[in-house]
Amino acid sequence: MTQHFAVFGYPIAHSLSPRIHAAFAKQQGIAIDYTAIETTPENFSEALKSFHKFGGRGANITLPHKQTAFALCEKTSERAQRAGAVNTLIRTETGWDGDNTDGPGLIHDLTERHRLDLRGRRTLLLGAGGAARGVAPALLDAGIDELFVVNRTAGKADALVDAIGQPGRVHPRYWEDLKDLGSFDLIINATSAGRQASSTALPFTLVTTRTLAVDLSYSEAAIAFMSWAKAANAGNVLDGLGMLIEQAAIGFSIWHGVRPETDEIYGQLRKEVVGLHNGD
Ligand code: ATR
Repeated sequence: MTQHFAVFGYPIAHSLSPRIHAAFAKQQGIAIDYTAIETTPENFSEALKSFHKFGGRGANITLPHKQTAFALCEKTSERAQRAGAVNTLIRTETGWDGDNTDGPGLIHDLTERHRLDLRGRRTLLLGAGGAARGVAPALLDAGIDELFVVNRTAGKADALVDAIGQPGRVHPRYWEDLKDLGSFDLIINATSAGRQASSTALPFTLVTTRTLAVDLSYSEAAIAFMSWAKAANAGNVLDGLGMLIEQAAIGFSIWHGVRPETDEIYGQLRKEVVGLHNGD
C-alpha cells in the first residue's frame, strides 16, 4: 500500500525533498508518494489536519513553519526541544511526534561525507533563527570548542545562547564586533540573507587557510557567503546540499526503519545545483 508523505513550506516550489525521498524509496523498494504542499503560516495548522485526514503518515517541515510545527506536536524528541523547532513529523494514533534532523544531518555531511574533524574547532555561528537553533546543539555535541553566536538582532543571539545554557563555552557577540573576534576554524552561515539577495558585510579577519566555511543554504542563496569565504582564502568552503540530503536520510530511516544510501542522489543533485563548492 502506498504511504503518503509531504513537505510543507512557503514557498515550496523549488524544494528538492520530493526528489530525494522518491530516490530513497525507489532504492529501498518502498512504495510512497511524497508531495510538496505550499501553505501560508495562517493556513499551516489546517493544512496539516487535512493531510492527516487524507492518510498522511509523515511530513517534513521547512521555512517558515518549523517553530509552529513544534508547538503543534503532541510529543517531541530531545533534539527538537533543544532546537525549539521540528523538521520531521511522524503520525501516531493520537497526534504528531516531532523530531529535528537538521543538526545531525549537518554533522553527518561534514564528518562522514567530507571526512572533516570538527573537534576542537573555534566556531562562529552567524544567525539565530530556526536554522541556527537546529544546528547549534549538534555542533556542540560534535565536540567543537567555543561557539560564538552573532546575529543582526542581538537579542535573538542572547536568547539562543541562554537556551543552550553553557555559559563557559557559548557566547553571544554583536555583529559590529565581528572584526574584533579574531579568526575561526569553523564558520556556519545560518542567516537567510542570501535568500533575500541582501548582502552581509563580513570581515576577512574571521578567516584563515584552516577555516571551514559552511553555508546552510545551497544554490543561489549560498553564493554570496561562499564567494566571500573563497575570497578570504578559507581552506574549505561548502554549501548545505549535503546537509539537506542527510537530514532527509535520517527522516527516511525514522519513517521506514531503514537508512538509505545517499551518495548517488548527492552526486546527481550536485551536478545540477547551481552554486560554488569545493572539497568533494
Ligand atoms: P531560518 O529558519 O532560515 O533561520 P529565520 O528564523 O527567519 O529563518 O532566521 C533568519 C536569520 O537570518 C535571522 O538570524 C536573521 O537575523 P535577524 O534575527 O536579525 O532577523 C538573519 N538575517 C536575515 N537577513 C539578514 C541580513 N541581511 N543580514 C544578517 N542577518 C540576516
